[in-house]
Parts: sequence; structure tokens; C-alpha cells
Amino acid sequence: MAMIECENLVKIYKAEDIEVMALQGLDLVVEEGEFMAMIGKSGSGKSTLLNLLGGLDSPTAGKLWVNGIDMTKITRAGLVKYKRDTVGFVWQNNARNMIPYLTAQENVMLPMAFSGTHRRRAKAAELLDQVGLAGKRNNRLAELSGGEQQRVAIAIALANSPKILLADEPTGAVDTRTSDLIFDLFRELNETRKLTIVTVTHDRRLSGKVDRVVNIRDGKTSSEFIRNISYASELAALRSSSSAERSEQTHTELLVLDRAGRLQLPAEYLTRLQLKTPGRVRADMEEDRVVLTRESEKNA
Ligand SMILES: Nc1ncnc2c1ncn2[C@@H]1O[C@H](COP(=O)(O)OP(=O)(O)OP(=O)(O)O)[C@@H](O)[C@H]1O
Ligand SMILES: [Mg+2]
Repeated sequence: MAMIECENLVKIYKAEDIEVMALQGLDLVVEEGEFMAMIGKSGSGKSTLLNLLGGLDSPTAGKLWVNGIDMTKITRAGLVKYKRDTVGFVWQNNARNMIPYLTAQENVMLPMAFSGTHRRRAKAAELLDQVGLAGKRNNRLAELSGGEQQRVAIAIALANSPKILLADEPTGAVDTRTSDLIFDLFRELNETRKLTIVTVTHDRRLSGKVDRVVNIRDGKTSSEFIRNISYASELAALRSSSSAERSEQTHTELLVLDRAGRLQLPAEYLTRLQLKTPGRVRADMEEDRVVLTRESEKNA
């Protein structure tokens, strides 16, 4: 079984008398040890999905399995254990979960589920070392840069050795260089800990660093970019080319067919071909390909 399996996942938010369908039958499978990113317009349902994966909210309909657990049937006690042992969260702005006048190390120790202070202190030091902050562990949080604070947040998310790291725009508030450092750190954790990572990013450049990019549109998976070559061989090969070219070369875009055989065309195709939605297109089989044509052309 995969680490994450979503099938026809639906999430409806009810606020007074309006309903928002944030996820509209989303299908997604994430394998154990995968490092993937979600992209998509504002309001497309990315954070909603992360919240469901993190057990912070529950699905309205459909199937959701994480780490062999049926999230639609999980008990209250099961959920507490799930949030403690299975997932770690990193947000865009983590400051609200951390205490400015405590040191980096004290902040990491705080949420730890170990009994002895001594053990917690050692474990916190080890985690800060892993995120590259060994030299700053006794600095107060307020004395650290935004990127360093973000790395403290990653150390906190790792404190209980989760299987999955969920990150919602973790680089949204830091500069390019720091964003690179954070994604490189994710890659390292992914490789050394076999950590499954699901992150949301708006940054196309960063999405070149992951195994797979899933594009969410209107609460459904519409297309995926799959890495063609391994990250290691890419690193060796690409020193010369620019990062913009990089994601073009390393990832192939695929549209996602859902269970009923429906597919969502990318918005650019719709505009370029002046296709109206809702509307009709003609689909013809030509040998082993399907050709879509604007309706008016065939009628003319
Ligand atoms: N708690 C809530 N109550 C009501 N509606 C909500 C709630 N959370 C999200 N929504 C709605 O659900 C839809 C999806 O929101 P979501 O936050 O998942 O989008 P997103 O893809 O993360 O967007 P962004 O890129 O702006 O963060 C939006 O229409 C949003 O307004
Ligand atoms: Mg969001």
C-alpha cells in the first residue's frame, strides 16, 4: 500500500448557509519516500488537502488512507496518536508556534514527548545539527533570521520522527537563497530518513527540485510533472544550465485521467485553442492518438 491514497476525495466547508466545495473528487497516490510538491492557483484546495492529510480536518466524502490508516474512520484517540507519531507540519510562518524569548534548543524541546530533560536536550541538539543550526542552538529565537527560524520549525516537525512531513508554502516568507537551502534540506531528509514529503509551493523554480509536481485545479488533480532522471544524476549534469531550463528538462507534464476517464485540460490549452467551458470538443481517434478539435471548425 502507498503512503498516501486519496480516491474521489471531497471536502465541503459549510459556513452559515453557503457551502464551498474545496476538494471535488481528488485522486492522488503518494509512495513512501516520495518528495512531491503541489502547485495550483489560490483557492484550488492545496491547504485543504494538507489539512486532511495532517488530520487537522476530516473529509466530507471519498477515501483517504495514510500510512495504512483509514482517515475517514479514525477514532479521536487514534487521531491524537496519528498527529503525534505519523505527521510533522511546517507552515509558511511558524513564528506563531514558537516562543521568541526561548532559545532554538528550548523551542525544539518544548513539544517533545520524552520524559527526561536530559534526553530531550540531547535529541534537540541532534535535530538542530541535522538542519544545520548546531552553532546557533543557544541563540534566542528572536535573534535568528527568518530562514533560520524556519529551520528550527523543521527540527520541531521532525522531533517525533514522523513518517510524513507536510509543508504549506514553507518558503513563502524567505528569500531565494534560503528557499533553496530549505528545499535542499528537505531533499537530504527525504534521502537520509526515507521521509515522505508533501509540500505546497508557488515557486516553479523550487518545483524543479522535487520528484513529482502535482497541479491542483478546482479541487482536483489536473496534471503532474514527473521527474525523468534521478536527482543525483541531474545535480551532476546541470551545473551549466539555468534553473528555469532545468525544470523543463527534468520533468515531463502528464494530464491525470480520473477513474471515470475524465481529464482536465490545462488552462493554457483552453485559452490557446479558444475553447469555451462548459462546451464541446470533437475527439477523434487517429491511430494511437486522440485529437481534440474545436467544435466550430468541424462544423464549418
Ligand atoms: N475553513 C474554511 N471555511 C470555509 N471555506 C474554506 C475554509 N478553508 C478553505 N476554504 C475555501 O476552500 C477553498 C480552498 O481553499 P484552500 O485554502 O485549500 O486553497 P489553497 O489552494 O491553499 O489556496 P492558497 O494558494 O491561497 O493558499 C477556497 O475557496 C477557500 O475559500
Ligand atoms: Mg493555502
